[in-house]
Amino acid sequence: MAPKIRGFSILLVFASVRAILAATQDLPIYVDSSLSSGWENWSWSSDINFTATDLIFGTSGSSISVNSTQYAALSVKLEGTFPDYAGLRFDIAGAQPDVTISIQSTADNSQSPNIPLSAISKTIVDGSFSSLLVDFNALPGSGTQLGNGTWDRITFQAGGNGAIYHIDNIVLVSEIVVTPQLLSAEPLTNNILAVTTVGAVNLADVHVAFNGKAVKVASQTTYNPVDTPSKTITYLTLGSSFKQGNLTITAGNTTFTHVLPSAQRGSIVTTAKLPINPLIYGVNFPTSADYIKELGVTISRWGGNAVTAYNPFGGFTNAGADWYFENRAVDNGQADDWMGWVQGAGSSSLLTIPALDWVSKDSSSYSFPKTVFPDQQSFDPYKPDAGDGLLPNGTTISSVFTPPDPQNAYVTWNTTAAKTWLAGLKNKPLLVAIDNEIEIAHSTHQDMHPQPMSYDEELSRVIKFSTAAKEALPNVQVVAPSTCSWWFYWTSAVGYTDNAAHNNTDFLP
Ligand SMILES: *[C@@H]1O[C@H](CO)[C@@H](O)[C@H](O)[C@H]1NC(C)=O
Ligand SMILES: *[C@@H]1O[C@H](CO)[C@@H](O)[C@H](O)[C@H]1NC(C)=O
Ligand SMILES: *[C@@H]1O[C@H](CO)[C@@H](O)[C@H](O)[C@H]1NC(C)=O
Ligand SMILES: *[C@@H]1O[C@H](CO)[C@@H](O)[C@H](O)[C@H]1NC(C)=O
Ligand SMILES: *[C@@H]1O[C@H](CO)[C@@H](O)[C@H](O)[C@H]1NC(C)=O
Ligand SMILES: *[C@@H]1O[C@H](CO)[C@@H](O)[C@H](O)[C@H]1NC(C)=O
Ligand SMILES: *[C@@H]1O[C@H](CO)[C@@H](O)[C@H](O)[C@H]1NC(C)=O
Ligand SMILES: *[C@@H]1O[C@H](CO)[C@@H](O)[C@H](O)[C@H]1NC(C)=O
Ligand SMILES: *[C@@H]1O[C@H](CO)[C@@H](O)[C@H](O)[C@H]1NC(C)=O
Repeated sequence: MAPKIRGFSILLVFASVRAILAATQDLPIYVDSSLSSGWENWSWSSDINFTATDLIFGTSGSSISVNSTQYAALSVKLEGTFPDYAGLRFDIAGAQPDVTISIQSTADNSQSPNIPLSAISKTIVDGSFSSLLVDFNALPGSGTQLGNGTWDRITFQAGGNGAIYHIDNIVLVSEIVVTPQLLSAEPLTNNILAVTTVGAVNLADVHVAFNGKAVKVASQTTYNPVDTPSKTITYLTLGSSFKQGNLTITAGNTTFTHVLPSAQRGSIVTTAKLPINPLIYGVNFPTSADYIKELGVTISRWGGNAVTAYNPFGGFTNAGADWYFENRAVDNGQADDWMGWVQGAGSSSLLTIPALDWVSKDSSSYSFPKTVFPDQQSFDPYKPDAGDGLLPNGTTISSVFTPPDPQNAYVTWNTTAAKTWLAGLKNKPLLVAIDNEIEIAHSTHQDMHPQPMSYDEELSRVIKFSTAAKEALPNVQVVAPSTCSWWFYWTSAVGYTDNAAHNNTDFLP
């Protein structure tokens, strides 16, 4: 055993030294006939041939042929890390295969945003290779940066119908020369234009003309959006104002034209001084303190389908119908700590309080095992026994058969538990919401609430849990109901018999 282990650690050291050196030169992953040394095959549920010769790039060697079943993947991992590359280049052939690329770190489980192949090219064909490039400074799809990380794995994952393709010449590149491009140019006011560019566009080459006559640019300010730093937005202030007519903005081969209408007149009543509530600048689960600061987020919401089953005493939750009714450990930390950091970054918080009768009991149970309900529409590709709770025709299991016993996955939840939790918080929310869209609980959380929610039940839950919240946190403001759509302003999941039982009044009159 010992010599083997020694050999393995020597390989690791070698691989990481090489990865660091390689930042100044390209790092081949697969070129011509095999995975390069240091790269391992971490694919799953796929038929993969690393020496396919039925379709090759160029005139010799081989390519990788891939036949992935649903959600399966070609995945490769480096023994070491590749932190500093400019991008990923590869050649691919196939009938626009439904593949999503991600860059991952097995050390800390972080991962890039998903990069759909279709965001790089929509013209990939069977029988001949297309050469594609992923720029790590502007990821296709999101436009975000890959950023620094202990990156060591690259995955090409198929969508729900699988994917069949050939891929060749997979290389991490040390440098990408960005072609200068004028992406957009439009007027903001009658003398200010916004111009978006990538690469080294010389702004002196941007020419503005109005009704065929050149207009001088008096001054300019440039801005790099924090989330898409590869792009530059420049505001050009013009030497004169334009009226009705044709505006053209040209740089190199690219021209943008706008036909400006005649001036529209209106008036602003300057005596009306109703302030806009600063709390409208809110987001759900901001990604970082920097994000809150940069965007000026005034309130951060802990909410969504994945908080209805939040058990603050254990730190468990699940996302109900959004992910196979599977319990998991909370992935945003505990609500109290989360409120601590969002508030530390300068935002208030809106905390959702579960208001059904159950919350997750652990991080691993699930409600619709295949062993109990074999006939379901789909099962978790990563946990094949966990089903989505739908019959093959799309009907919920709980509306046709005896629903699962909630105790399989949950422990009881009630106002006493809510009060204990809220009273013990170190960090206090400004607002609390009474659960999330519980008017559709019979669908999103059919395992714990199979019956459609009626007017009376929702009102009673809102009153009970609001009262408990106010008892635990006297200064808190309550947001309720947390409604999923306009439809549920007008009626309930029970249907119009429920309106009829309430003198034909809308749920929210
Ligand atoms: C790579 O992994 C896939 C999926 O597990 C497997 O089918 C394939 O045979 C492996 N190829 C090699 C060369 O190890
Ligand atoms: C892979 O492809 C080569 C060339 O087409 C073929 O000779 C070989 O048998 C294939 N391997 C597998 C495991 O199918
Ligand atoms: C891909 O694999 C499936 C089985 O998973 C098989 O039915 C199908 O014929 C394969 N397609 C190709 C092109 O090899
Ligand atoms: C990555 O790390 C380098 C060196 O520490 C730093 O200069 C660079 O700004 C970092 N990039 C990002 C996106 O954080
Ligand atoms: C603006 O362009 C349109 C054609 O797109 C043309 O019909 C019109 O006469 C132009 N207006 C002026 C003021 O040049
Ligand atoms: C303009 O187009 C021509 C022909 O398509 C191309 O060769 C040239 O590089 C382009 N110039 C710029 C500045 O994009
Ligand atoms: C779906 O299938 C179940 C079980 O066979 C059946 O009871 C139900 O009526 C079906 N629903 C629809 C909408 O067809
Ligand atoms: C309320 O929930 C707690 C925590 O699960 C449980 O211990 C308690 O028995 C419940 N109380 C009632 C009245 O159901
Ligand atoms: C029911 O609605 C009618 C018409 O809107 C109204 O006149 C009546 O007072 C309502 N009755 C009750 C019990 O609210």
